[in-house]
Amino acid sequence: MKPNPLPFLLERWAGVAKPTNSFAGRRVLVTGANTGIGFEAAATLASLDADHIILGVRNMDQGMEARRKIEARGQGKSNVHVWELDMGDYSSVQRFAARIEKEMPRLDVAILNAGISPNDYVVGVEGWESILQVNVMATALLGLLLLPRLRASTAVTHDLSHLVIVTSTAHRWLELSDFPDTAKFGGSILRAVSARPSDGNKWNPLLQNARSKLFAMYVSESLAALATGPNGKLEVIVTSVCPGACKSDLMRDLLGKSFSQTLTLRVFDILFNKPTEQGGWSYVRAAALPSEGHGRWYKTTALTQ
Ligand SMILES: NC(=O)c1ccc[n+]([C@@H]2O[C@H](COP(=O)([O-])OP(=O)(O)OC[C@H]3O[C@@H](n4cnc5c(N)ncnc54)[C@H](OP(=O)(O)O)[C@@H]3O)[C@@H](O)[C@H]2O)c1
Repeated sequence: MKPNPLPFLLERWAGVAKPTNSFAGRRVLVTGANTGIGFEAAATLASLDADHIILGVRNMDQGMEARRKIEARGQGKSNVHVWELDMGDYSSVQRFAARIEKEMPRLDVAILNAGISPNDYVVGVEGWESILQVNVMATALLGLLLLPRLRASTAVTHDLSHLVIVTSTAHRWLELSDFPDTAKFGGSILRAVSARPSDGNKWNPLLQNARSKLFAMYVSESLAALATGPNGKLEVIVTSVCPGACKSDLMRDLLGKSFSQTLTLRVFDILFNKPTEQGGWSYVRAAALPSEGHGRWYKTTALTQ
């Protein structure tokens, strides 16, 4: 992997403009909305008058606290709801999507933001390495399960619904040598990347995060291919988005593990990370793109190749 954080300096200096378009009447969902960029995206949507806002969170207490903070900002007229969602567990994802089907006759915007960057190699209950589980597998499942409701909303409002998948510029830093041999895994790149590194290769959570975000780009492209009707007409705008480097809790588990790692992350934070709210603004801008945003990558402030 060849990390190139220098463009983040420029992005930090240029900043992201706060979106101003109204979301009045729109019913929206943000996953992983109790903290970080997801929280700021939800707060921004509230300030732009989104009708209903669902905060999809794995910790209900933290979700309620996030709701309290959004309401305390006193902007907009949104109804904010906190719903339980654990992306580590497919049955939780399925329950969540079924609840959307049952209780939300319309869903106009879904921002799939939940993501993790743990320090250690961990296999979750579904048998996948935990970064892959949350950033890729559960994101793909939830996106698939939400498509019908997003489609149905478009049919009612005649205003295209949006599905936004959160990715990262880090996927561009990857090289072919960053991927293990798939031969032992029946040719499955997902299984190969999910397996504990062997042959003296050290577990590298930042590399795994970048790989997961490359897979998330494929998830977004695949969902985009499913978002048209039988007549080829676009029914949901599916866009991937990178918030750029932002202050958040993402590296919480990597801090304090070793002096050099903590120092590197602290220096990176000081030099490169934008205020968290600007990452949220990138999501909201992506969620308001016209149909030219379909199947494309919104990199911080603009659609990018
Ligand atoms: N910060 C950056 O510079 C940056 C750059 C590029 C892309 N991103 C992406 O932006 C997204 C948001 O990250 P962030 O930086 O805002 O980090 P963050 O502050 O750590 O927020 C991550 C959110 O995801 C939630 N989450 C994690 N695992 C979950 C699970 N199993 N089920 C449900 N929710 C779960 C977290 O909930 P808990 O609080 O309960 O853990 C939290 O709400 C991620 O997809 C990340 O990869 C971030």
